[in-house]
Amino acid sequence: MNNVEKISELIAGIKSELGKASDIAGIEALRVSYLGKKGSITELLKCLKDLSEDERKTFGQKVNAAKEEAAALIEEAKKQLQENEVKKELESMPEFDMSMPPRIRRGSYHPITLVQRECEEIFKSMGFTVEDYSEIVSEYECFESLNIPKDHPARDMQDTYYLENGQLLKTQTSAAQNAIYRKYRDQLINDGKPIKAIFPGRCFRNESTDACHENTFFQMEGVYVGKDINISNLIFFMKTMLSEVFKKDIKVRLRPGFFPFVEPGFELDISCLICGGVGCPSCKHSGWLELCPCGMIHPEVLKAGGIDPEVYTGFAFGLGLTRLAMMKYGIKDIRDLNGGSLKSMEQFTE
Ligand code: DAH
Repeated sequence: MNNVEKISELIAGIKSELGKASDIAGIEALRVSYLGKKGSITELLKCLKDLSEDERKTFGQKVNAAKEEAAALIEEAKKQLQENEVKKELESMPEFDMSMPPRIRRGSYHPITLVQRECEEIFKSMGFTVEDYSEIVSEYECFESLNIPKDHPARDMQDTYYLENGQLLKTQTSAAQNAIYRKYRDQLINDGKPIKAIFPGRCFRNESTDACHENTFFQMEGVYVGKDINISNLIFFMKTMLSEVFKKDIKVRLRPGFFPFVEPGFELDISCLICGGVGCPSCKHSGWLELCPCGMIHPEVLKAGGIDPEVYTGFAFGLGLTRLAMMKYGIKDIRDLNGGSLKSMEQFTE
């Protein structure tokens, strides 16, 4: 047998042996026996010394080609074997049933998130934009711009956490009003587009806690500024929103309320839904719950926002989102909302 025939024979041999190999170790052993230092293909190179220069060149090329072919055959066989193993494993697994309920526990939304989103949808459908605002604000934003100068007694009700840099954790979502007026006043003045915005957010106060007071709670502020906006617009919006949220007619009452940033100012109360209006700890035994203080924006507040109060008027409201969630879901104690118990909070997600 000449050398070239030997090469073909070796390739045929490796093909048939690879066909029989049943695991990776067997294939590896074959690689060593053909292509290793003393492998049969490598050994062929030993004949080179007996050949003429021309023969040596062509034969050398043939051996190298054979080496490459053998290496490719080995790789292919390995790949095949691995694929077969995966296939076998998959076949041995129990069938996957898409209709089975998942074993993992699904997350749920906090009741405040649920009412917040619902209110956002309602106000969006009435043309309001939803704004995001920082929890850390300046004294100017939280107080001065809202017509509450330093040393004003209204600040006593809203003691909060002050940071070393003079900023504070906002006590009311009203703190975002100034920024919103500034953001939209050009559109109002140049294009005659009313400012209609809501801004939900977390508020903080130095508060002794009980069933209806917390140091951390959520509000949703809303403002509507344009030409000829009046109290009737305010009442209409409040009524529409509350009947949408509760999906039924709610007993409300409007009474005068003092807030330095509105004139006139109102307290909008709803009949307590926990006790049906007879009185309970959640409503301080009055049968009524202050849910949405509101009023016509004070001229000084509009001025601070760069809006001329002689030309434009508007209303503002501060909806107590935390209270709303309590009423909507019958949560008796406000502290449960910050309690972190997944078990009690997860029951509200439908
Ligand atoms: N910011 C007030 C508070 O937290 C609530 C409030 C009252 C907001 C009247 C308003 C408003 O926008 O018009 O006590």
